[in-house]
Amino acid sequence: MIRLAILASGGGSNADAILRYFAGHPQIRIVLIACNRKMAGVYQIAENHGVESIHLSRERFQSGDGYLPVFREKQVRGLILAGFLWKLPPTLIQAYTHRILNIHPALLPKFGGQGMYGIHVHQAVLAAHETESGITIHRVDEHYDNGDVVFQTACPVDPHDTPESLGKRILQLEHQHYPPTIENYFSQLPN
Ligand code: GRF
Repeated sequence: MIRLAILASGGGSNADAILRYFAGHPQIRIVLIACNRKMAGVYQIAENHGVESIHLSRERFQSGDGYLPVFREKQVRGLILAGFLWKLPPTLIQAYTHRILNIHPALLPKFGGQGMYGIHVHQAVLAAHETESGITIHRVDEHYDNGDVVFQTACPVDPHDTPESLGKRILQLEHQHYPPTIENYFSQLPN
């Protein structure tokens, strides 16, 4: 069994899609949800699926042990970032080299980097008059939105789109493609 943890900061709709997809999966199990915000909806999602969740303190995550002992104790073999807004500490990046995936709601390398998250991404795409946007699933390294691309798919930008309507279309793509990409990626890595 490949044991994975999800790191999230917000509503957790991707976490929900991932947990649904892997419920009863023969090879992959989500064993922990870690979140840096106290009131985030993702705790309820974890509870609905009977998965343990923890709150990450900034101090310990960024300048302490990065919660590595917690992940190790749970025998976590990979980390899935699903709307997680903090940069990962070097401790985690080194311990999980090639074993951390993130999803970004645009076609990287366009519209990535610090400050490019959530609605800001879609606002920038519309301001640039792009005719298409999409999603990027990539490996995580020490820079924002920088690691090797694992999967990308595009969707059209409608001339009448608002950041919200574009964001909705993109989120559906995320829910559709993130779980099977995680499955393909981790089932091909040596455990
Ligand atoms: C998604 O658009 C994801 O690409 C981005 O943050 C958003 C998270 O949404 N990194 P949710 O918390 O999974 O609903």
